[in-house]
Formats: sequence, structure tokens, C-alpha cells
Amino acid sequence: MNLTELKNQLEQIIDPSNDLSVGETSSIKNLSYDEKKDLIILKIAMGHLGGENEKKFRRDIARVVKIDCGYSGLQLELEESKIFNSITQKPINFIGIISGKGGVGKSSVAANIAYRMSKRGIRVGVIDADVYGSSLPTIFEIPHQNPHFDDNKKILPIVKDNMEIISTEFFTNPGQPVIWRGGMLNSMISHFFYDVKWHDDTQYIIVDFPPGTGDITLDIKSIVPQTKMLIVTTPHLSASHVAIKAGHAAKTLGHEIYGVIENMSYFINPINNQHEKIFGEGGGISVAKGLETELIAQIPIGAPKHHQDLYEIDELQGKIYDEIVDYIICKCEIK
Ligand SMILES: Nc1ncnc2c1ncn2[C@@H]1O[C@H](COP(=O)(O)OP(=O)(O)OP(=O)(O)O)[C@@H](O)[C@H]1O
Ligand SMILES: [Mg+2]
Repeated sequence: MNLTELKNQLEQIIDPSNDLSVGETSSIKNLSYDEKKDLIILKIAMGHLGGENEKKFRRDIARVVKIDCGYSGLQLELEESKIFNSITQKPINFIGIISGKGGVGKSSVAANIAYRMSKRGIRVGVIDADVYGSSLPTIFEIPHQNPHFDDNKKILPIVKDNMEIISTEFFTNPGQPVIWRGGMLNSMISHFFYDVKWHDDTQYIIVDFPPGTGDITLDIKSIVPQTKMLIVTTPHLSASHVAIKAGHAAKTLGHEIYGVIENMSYFINPINNQHEKIFGEGGGISVAKGLETELIAQIPIGAPKHHQDLYEIDELQGKIYDEIVDYIICKCEIK
């Protein structure tokens, strides 16, 4: 059997750590044949190394190479999968925005962080992982459109300034609800991570999570285990209480928490400039304490002056988002 046929067979193998096939995740990094030694040399990535999953994966690969395809020797190297920039070959920093409770401003925070990065000339990708409640296209004021594909069938995200955005909204008809679950949902989300042709200079990808700690959060954990999390809460106890749970869930899954952003912290009364704490106070700090992390910022309530949901640098919220970007850049390992 030749190498192309072997590759096809290997691509059918399911990685038990994320239930995705080797083909779906383009995990084969190197496949060659050493004629002198009659040896297949294979380098392949998997979601998570270790434990029973790695043992099973190794067994399945060896079965395909030796039994199904009849090669006598196999030199196998496994590595943990990372999503790399196609040109620089540097791994990309994934920043996830989570909250627990809905409606606290996750999408607004995700969009404004990406927008400020973009304004600073940083190439940034945005993944709208809130498949059912997708709102980023509206926040970015992007008219409905379908993405195109390149020659390698990679999805070309929608470009706005230095941002590239991918959302289920672009794959459905306007107003049509998404009614997928299980495998289809997992496969859609995995396409967003593996099959998008990001700009070659992309350093950061911001992921807007759905509220709660459901299936999508688990799927993303298996796809990009190295996603770092920012937790959004309001000052109100009802939000902070659930945010702590979401943070603990993320930690249990092995994600690092970069910090907490308290949104809708106060309203500046235009008459007397007093900070009115409409939604109570203390939520942000209690989440930060509960998760042993930092309260990065407190964002006031206020309608943006220039856009529907995005703040510019001449607004207090815009300045705060700029500081959040500084914080993220400083924290990220991959510069
Ligand atoms: N600081 C703020 N000041 C005023 N309005 C805000 C602020 N932050 C968010 N909003 C508004 O609150 C609403 C909810 O925000 P957003 O959609 O970002 O929340 P979410 O957590 O993503 O919600 P969901 O859980 O439904 O995805 C939006 O209408 C948004 O414009
Ligand atoms: Mg949202």
C-alpha cells in the first residue's frame, strides 16, 4: 500500500481525547517511509497526551500501519495539538470570554477587546462560539453574507479592519435559528478552529463563549486546551455567583484564568458626575477572590457615542478596553 493510501486510512482514526478524526483536525504533521529500515516515520498531533486515550490512539495507529497496511516498522512521535500560524509557525494565543450567566456583556467585551487590538494594528481573529445566540456580526455591524473558501477548502473569515470574524450567522439564512446539537454542533465548532484560513500575521484569537458551561465549552476544551479565560460578571451577586461556578468549571477542565472583567459596574450621572452603582457592587472582586485571580477592569454602563456596541478611545470604556488589551498582551506567552 502506498503512502497516500496509508494517509487516507490514518485520517479515519478517531482521536479518543476529543472524538475528532485525524483527518478532521489535519493532525498528521509528518509521514514518510525509510526504505533502508523498512520503517514508517510518523508525527501526529492529538488533543491531549497521556492516559488511556494516548494508549488507545497509539494502538489504533499501529494497527493501521502494520496490520491494515502491512508495513513492518513504525517510528511514531505524538505531540499535543496546537493551532499554529501558517507562516510564522508560532502557536496562536486563544483568549476565551466566559461568564456563566447570560446577558452580562461577554459578546460586548469580546468584540471590544478585538476592536481595540485591531485599532492598534494587531491582527486578531474572533470566533463566535455562541452558536445558538450568535451576536458578533450584529455588534460589528457586518451585513449578512456567506464566507468564501480557498483552494484548500479552508473557510475565509469575514474581514473588518484588522479583525477576521467567523460565526454561524454566516452559514445560515438571515433570521433562521440554529437547531443542531451533538455531533453536528461539535463538528461546526471544530471547523471554526481547524478549517479557517486566518491571516498569516494572526497572533490572537478571541473566542466568545455561550453562557453556562455546556457542551460547547467542553468541545472547545478538547480542541484548544490551551485557551486562556477571561471571566465577565456584573457587580450583582446573581451574576458573580454563577461566574465563580463557570470559572471553577474552566479551571477543572485545566484552563488558566487570566482574570475577571466586571461589566456594567456603575453609571456616571451626567448631572453630578457621581458613580451610581445601579447593579450593586462587589461582584467582580468576589469572583476574583473566589477564583484566586485578578480583577482586571471595571467597565461603566454607557451607550457608545460612535457605534452601536463598540467604544472608541475618546470614550472612558474605550480607554479601559485599551488597558485590558495591554494586560492580555503582557500575560500571553506567545508574543
Ligand atoms: N457596559 C455596558 N453599558 C451599556 N450596555 C452594555 C454594556 N455592556 C453590554 N451592554 C449591553 O447589554 C446587552 C447584553 O450584552 P452582550 O450581548 O454583550 O451580553 P452577553 O453576555 O454576550 O449575552 P448572551 O449571554 O446573551 O450572549 C447588549 O445589549 C449590550 O449592548
Ligand atoms: Mg453573547
